[in-house]
Amino acid sequence: MIKKITCIGAGYVGGPTMAVMALKNPQIRFHIVDINQARIDAWMSDTLPVYEPGLDEIVQHTRGKNLFFSTDVEGAIKEADMIFISVNTPTKEYGVGKGRAADLKYVELCARQIAEFSDRDKIVVEKSTLPVRTAEAIKTILDSSGRDLNFQVLSNPEFLAEGTAVRDLLEPDRVLIGGEQTDAGKSAIDALVQVYNAWIPRERIITTNVWSSELSKLTANAFLAQRISSINAISALCEATGADVEEVAYAIGTDSRIGPKFLKSSVGFGGSCFQKDILNLVYLCDYFGLPEVARYWEQVIIMNDYQKSRFGSKIISTLFNTVSGKKIAFLGWAFKKDTNDTRESAAIYVADQLLEDQGRVSVYDPQVSPERMYMDVDGLGTRSEAENRDRLTMLDDVYEACKDAHAIAILTEWDEFPGLDWQRIYDNMLKPAFIFDGRLILDKKTLEKIGFQVYSIGKG
Ligand code: UDX
Ligand code: UDX
Repeated sequence: MIKKITCIGAGYVGGPTMAVMALKNPQIRFHIVDINQARIDAWMSDTLPVYEPGLDEIVQHTRGKNLFFSTDVEGAIKEADMIFISVNTPTKEYGVGKGRAADLKYVELCARQIAEFSDRDKIVVEKSTLPVRTAEAIKTILDSSGRDLNFQVLSNPEFLAEGTAVRDLLEPDRVLIGGEQTDAGKSAIDALVQVYNAWIPRERIITTNVWSSELSKLTANAFLAQRISSINAISALCEATGADVEEVAYAIGTDSRIGPKFLKSSVGFGGSCFQKDILNLVYLCDYFGLPEVARYWEQVIIMNDYQKSRFGSKIISTLFNTVSGKKIAFLGWAFKKDTNDTRESAAIYVADQLLEDQGRVSVYDPQVSPERMYMDVDGLGTRSEAENRDRLTMLDDVYEACKDAHAIAILTEWDEFPGLDWQRIYDNMLKPAFIFDGRLILDKKTLEKIGFQVYSIGKG
């Protein structure tokens, strides 16, 4: 029986996942630890570090009862029966596999800490997305503790999407648990199955061997991202031919073999997972001597980069081949709606392109802070940090952000954008007033009636 669960890493994945588990398992004590004191303080405060619809209520309900936050990694490891590793696994920025392989130094550090501080058997669960066969590395480190302890390593990848994390956790399509196919491995799998079974029907909990579980996560993200790159590739062809990408997506999505989801053409996918996981898959394929397979998946990323730069180039060419000194209002900076996360957001790269062409960009986003935005762009292109602060601004008021702009670009599909007072925005802009809808959320005809010149991705 699992009585105490610890999670190392209080991020977008660890925080919401443990909060929902705690809600559904009141008899288990959950302890989330993180090396970042500010993050822990935020989890203890009224303003959580992660914005997710529905999360506040769950944390309020469980915090201090069976959900606790601290920076005491050692204590949390000692007390736990089961330890989730949910630290970040960024793309490696140095040495072997630079720009593609996952940097596992944080995961390795966790394993070393678990080996050092444990004084009894533990189940260790990989929550972070990891390259195939990482469990083996973790197990090797754990088993080298020198003490006679039994560690079982499970792979339990997370499929939640940001912005819908709580719903995805409460009603997942499936939960995947990989473990060693031995008696000890199977009983570790059973222990974790029980935790999920508190609210998820048993038939939706899939158990596999460790490697299948690890590879399924990379494959799922690669397939999802591939659908977006596929429809985005078609969006370029639609513009060239006079077809309408939304009509095409609807027409193909009604084929039950294809299905309607994840076919929304956009300025390009962002987020912490798709690019990182595909790069990782590409690295693995090359590593295992499968260059054709590697190139196949790499093209999903190349297509996505093309879509972002195509959008930026469209803005520049439409504004008479330069945006120098011109003001472009960005509606949205987050990589998708309902999150304050900006990792790999298309907005960053489009802004960089416009700033390099000496444009001025004023941003409105209901959840992103100016500090976050500057962190995202500093270091890109040839500009100094001072230049970024001079030409890139963030405003709390969407109408102020659009005032005197030459053009508006929609980068995030926030629900509030279609309902804005577009007549008022138009009246306060320079003419001709352009809109570049990178999210296909605005009604082109209505805007054209007001007087806007509208470009929508994938509409010929
Ligand atoms: C991360 C990974 O990026 C993803 O691959 C995986 O599927 C889940 O975990 P996320 O939760 O979004 O996703 O990452 P992030 O919000 O950066 O949170 C990680 C946390 O771990 C940070 O708060 C960081 O301070 C903490 N951390 C990191 C530790 O506590 N110890 C470490 O050694 C390293
Ligand atoms: C993704 C996976 O969905 C999730 O299962 C995995 O665990 C982590 O990675 P996330 O990155 O949070 O989740 O968001 P997701 O909703 O998948 O969107 C990713 C990006 O694709 C966003 O930038 C989104 O705007 C874009 N997107 C999504 C499209 O451009 N078109 C679509 O049809 C769907």
